[in-house]
Amino acid sequence: MRLLRFSFEHEPREKVELTGAQATMLATVYLRALDNRSDHPMLGDRWADEAVQRIDFDFSKFKMSSRNAASVAMRANVIDGWTREALQPGMTVLHLGCGLDSRFERVAPPEGVDWYDVDQPDVIDLRDKLFPASPHRRTIGSSVTAPDLLDEIPGDQPVLVIAEGLVMYLSEEDGLALLRRITHHFPSGELIFDAFSTLGVRLSNRFNPAVVHAGARLHWGIDNPKDLETSVPGLKLVTEWSFTDAPELDRYPAPMRAALRASGHITAIRRMGRMLRYRF
Ligand SMILES: C[S@@+](CC[C@H](N)C(=O)[O-])C[C@H]1O[C@@H](n2cnc3c(N)ncnc32)[C@H](O)[C@@H]1O
Repeated sequence: MRLLRFSFEHEPREKVELTGAQATMLATVYLRALDNRSDHPMLGDRWADEAVQRIDFDFSKFKMSSRNAASVAMRANVIDGWTREALQPGMTVLHLGCGLDSRFERVAPPEGVDWYDVDQPDVIDLRDKLFPASPHRRTIGSSVTAPDLLDEIPGDQPVLVIAEGLVMYLSEEDGLALLRRITHHFPSGELIFDAFSTLGVRLSNRFNPAVVHAGARLHWGIDNPKDLETSVPGLKLVTEWSFTDAPELDRYPAPMRAALRASGHITAIRRMGRMLRYRF
């Protein structure tokens, strides 16, 4: 028989007051946390869950539930898969518009990869408090549209550019300038990003809860992904992948799955929101 005495202390929570495009990354990390808490997670991102617990922010303002988490989890899964396939020692990774995404932890890059997480300065300030840096993983607090973005990054190795949920927030002019700067700076590389069609941009601005409740606005819609080959010399389209192709759809009841897969045969629907993969 004895008395036990315990104590505990939570890590301090970070008060966050972001709005606009920067706040949308709170919606994505929250959805990944909800996926992680579900009975059958699609992505299983425990780092997202831990980050959300450390943040003092009213996530209910996004008016989203676990129902909204599937598309974010599917998107992250396909990008993680392509990232693992592409990663090679001696490569530079630009993780643009990284928000609080734990991709570095999830894919665990091999030795010899130089990884840069890039986002606006206020997002990077928060990120640095939640995700520890390491010698091969650095953060850059800057707009991706800054002309000097790549000045400090050695341009002598192949690059893997990952931009999840970013390009639609840029103007077309800024987006193309960024892609041209990347293809000019590095000798070769691969670019992986999701893009909405112009219809997808219009619909998201009205109905996407993360965009609407963050007070953000989407701009750049990409209809035919081959058009980028003309606008950005050297770029070659490798894959256009639609959510209607996602293996995770197999979890849905047969009629819903059949309807979603069938809708993928309609180009306008396939292109509303999909993943693009280019090489140069
Ligand atoms: C929808 S969130 C996606 C965040 C992250 N990729 C993820 O999947 O969790 C959009 C992100 O793009 C960032 N962003 C938007 N415009 C940007 C810009 N011009 N420069 C840097 N980051 C930008 C926002 O700050 C935000 O973190």
